[in-house]
Amino acid sequence: MASDISALARALEDIRTVQRRDPAAPAWWVIAGSYQGVHAVWYHRVAHWFWRHGMRSYARLISQRARRATGIEIHPGAQLGRRLFIDHGTGVVIGETAVVGDDVLMFNGINLGGTTMSPGKRHPTIGDRVVIGAGAKVLGPLRVGSDARVGANAVVVKDIPDGATAVGIPAVIRSHPGPTEASTAASAVDAGDSHRHPDPDQPPEPVREPAMYYI
Ligand SMILES: CC(C)(COP(=O)(O)OP(=O)(O)OC[C@H]1O[C@@H](n2cnc3c(N)ncnc32)[C@H](O)[C@@H]1OP(=O)(O)O)[C@@H](O)C(=O)NCCC(=O)NCCS
Repeated sequence: MASDISALARALEDIRTVQRRDPAAPAWWVIAGSYQGVHAVWYHRVAHWFWRHGMRSYARLISQRARRATGIEIHPGAQLGRRLFIDHGTGVVIGETAVVGDDVLMFNGINLGGTTMSPGKRHPTIGDRVVIGAGAKVLGPLRVGSDARVGANAVVVKDIPDGATAVGIPAVIRSHPGPTEASTAASAVDAGDSHRHPDPDQPPEPVREPAMYYI
């Protein structure tokens, strides 16, 4: 998750991520100028820097400014991985001790929240390449495994294994593919598939839209 690349290189990487993951993505300069999910990540990078360097009041002021500007509230203490894309974004709340891996895709209305007032680790840890559907609430210091998918409006209160899909309230695992399939689950979503791999001996299936992009 840590990286030494420059702030500009990171910003360009963020824009390329939107172009790759959003089928409705406009020109790069429109993304840079108008995507609230991208702006929220950029604000957070500055706020998190102040937070890590002990200037926590400045950090809080920046994150609150970001909330007013974007509708997305990310606590400056939260640790976000590279190429996070918050699509649409309105109503997203990410708590102080949340940790988000690389290449995560989130939609609007998501909460990575706590269930206790006690200080210490109280927010979720999200693995790499996780996709979290609109309105999902992920609550407590649990772990969502890499390549997992959380369905829209799910309420997650227990760990989700790598590569699994969790839906409902409380969220239940709908499938738990083996390690080989799990490692390709997120790329399958990107490619328009959904945890299924074609049989080379059968005729190709009709092309479907990616499961996460029914917007
Ligand atoms: C969870 C998800 C990834 C599953 O996609 P999928 O693997 O293609 O699964 P399907 O759509 O074929 O659904 C399979 C089963 O799960 C159920 N299901 C799917 N999504 C669900 C959800 N969010 N909540 C509850 N049940 C859900 C379906 O009803 C179906 O049940 P059945 O087997 O009893 O008929 C997808 O449904 C989802 O929630 N995507 C989020 C999209 C999103 O947030 N878009 C926002 C754009 S702004």
